[in-house]
Amino acid sequence: MTVLVPTMGSLHRGHQALIKRARTLSKEVIVSIFVNPLQFENKVDLEKYPRSPQLDIELATLAGATEVWFPEYEDIYPGKIETLSAGPVGSLYEGASRPEHFEGVLTVVNRLFEMVKPTHAVFGEKDFQQLFLIKTIAKKVEIVSVPTIRSGSGLALSSRNTHLSELERECAEIISRALTAATQENNLLQAQRKLEEILASEASFKKDYAVIIDEKDFSIAKESSQKKRALVAGWINGIRLIDNMPMSKEVRL
Ligand code: PAF
Repeated sequence: MTVLVPTMGSLHRGHQALIKRARTLSKEVIVSIFVNPLQFENKVDLEKYPRSPQLDIELATLAGATEVWFPEYEDIYPGKIETLSAGPVGSLYEGASRPEHFEGVLTVVNRLFEMVKPTHAVFGEKDFQQLFLIKTIAKKVEIVSVPTIRSGSGLALSSRNTHLSELERECAEIISRALTAATQENNLLQAQRKLEEILASEASFKKDYAVIIDEKDFSIAKESSQKKRALVAGWINGIRLIDNMPMSKEVRL
């Protein structure tokens, strides 16, 4: 059994949790580190993406990786790129704000699967829509997911957090505070209201979306939805942050 943990590097405890989970599945754990240009709609964002290859090797190895692989662009895309479609769910939420982002993610993940041929691949729930879409294309690879790892104050760990100042990090905590409060409500309308209200209380947070979705198809959740999840995205000082939490109680309209 070979387990692949695809990453874009700048590893943190969230990635280490994926690698540790991978090690529970197999003794052979490959961590790929490739900053995929196809999934960046903005060149500046691609250039600014944090990179720390030496530290990545250390953190991946400490967490149990048996191989840390840095493919080159030409390895992944040797010829004409066959872009994968992300379908209707791929154009919602993250997809609406970041056109072609998910097509880029699916294309690279598919290439990594073709090259490594893993039995399993591990992804974080932090990018919940990405996780959903990857499951739709993984035909021969079992997808294993790991809950989001948070800092003590609740902020979801993300490579992009390195761009936040101390003060901006404190402001960013509004996201997990809003999600925690909303997901404990047992009424869907109340939950939505709480989400909006708490997010609006932090002036530096510019909301993109705050929704409660049905995990089955990413439509707006209804009382009858079996599994519901609150998703939030927005910016603090131009830095895009996303997070999500499952509704913890059965919600009613
Ligand atoms: O989640 C990420 O880090 C990336 O989107 C992934 C899955 C490694 C594809 O580049």
